Amino acid sequence: MEERIVSGESEINEDSFEYSLRPQTIKQYIGQDKVKNNLEVFIEAAKMREETLDHVLLYGPPGLGKTTLAAVIANEMGVNLRTTSGPAIERPGDLAAVLTALEPGDVLFIDEIHRLPRAIEEVLYPAMEDFCLDIVIGNGPSARSVRLDLPPFTLVGATTRAGALSAPLRDRFGVLCRLEYYSEEQLNEIVQRTAVILGTGIEETASEELARRSRGTPRIANRLLRRVRDFAQVKGNGDITTGLSREAFDLLQVDKLGLDHIDHKLLKAIIERFRGGPVGLDTIAASIGEESHTIEDVYEPYLLQIGFLQRTPRGRIVTHLVYEHFQLEVPTK
Ligand SMILES: Nc1ncnc2c1ncn2[C@@H]1O[C@H](COP(=O)(O)OP(=O)(O)OP(=O)(O)O)[C@@H](O)[C@H]1O
Ligand SMILES: [Mg+2]
Repeated sequence: MEERIVSGESEINEDSFEYSLRPQTIKQYIGQDKVKNNLEVFIEAAKMREETLDHVLLYGPPGLGKTTLAAVIANEMGVNLRTTSGPAIERPGDLAAVLTALEPGDVLFIDEIHRLPRAIEEVLYPAMEDFCLDIVIGNGPSARSVRLDLPPFTLVGATTRAGALSAPLRDRFGVLCRLEYYSEEQLNEIVQRTAVILGTGIEETASEELARRSRGTPRIANRLLRRVRDFAQVKGNGDITTGLSREAFDLLQVDKLGLDHIDHKLLKAIIERFRGGPVGLDTIAASIGEESHTIEDVYEPYLLQIGFLQRTPRGRIVTHLVYEHFQLEVPTK
């Protein structure tokens, strides 16, 4: 698959850049008010009772701030953050090693938790419920099970696919937080904050236009800002003016709504070859030479979100918004 500047997934080598931009406290964490308000109450209550926070599941599309929020939670609780991920834990022993190394109160962050193998989930259940670990020592007829006590801890799990989580695992989280796409105003705030951290001046209009192109996603906002800043450094004096940022977006092929050439290819194929639809997913896939599941999981969600595409029982259709966006006449059917 091609790399897209407007993808919510993180790019290789983007980690250290992102790390420096991560908000540390709930106050600095912009947007997601519902989630923040809930967490604030639970954190406050846990601290008053001098207990650990209930286990938290964070879910939502890539780049919305799950990893960031896990760190904020640990920071607000005043405890250590230990990080691992579903794919990194291959055997029950791997998980046991992580759990027994925890200190009382720690936050254990398991990223991509839907990718934990089932056998390992089962080790996790008693750990989450009773803070203990059942391990089998020896094998054959002499094997016996021993129970190890663990320090109380908070598990924070993150996933882009809550539906892929097994029901018993999901049920063991006391706090479920769904992260939502950000509004333009919130993204504007994030862009301004990042510009300050990077020490770059940015005109208000430029920041607003950047926010509008960020597809509701802070990761994309920060990435676009970095690219536009590079451009402004080479072509100007480093400050991001509205003119320079527009030039940069043209060069990057990111349009007014944050759509790129792949979105254009998909939408134009439906308009030009299938008269705007309805057309089946597999037919679209074949016509633009992409895999159906890539279209479904990666290309479509944002287009559905902004009302450019609709799913109907007979297939996908493009809406009048697409014709307006491309300044085409809406066909009369
Ligand atoms: N609420 C926010 N306020 C300010 N910046 C944010 C916010 N949420 C995310 N960011 C920024 O967006 C970037 C991506 O966030 P993060 O890595 O937490 O996303 P994620 O949901 O964990 O993504 P993935 O699904 O790929 O793991 C970070 O660099 C962070 O600085
Ligand atoms: Mg993450």
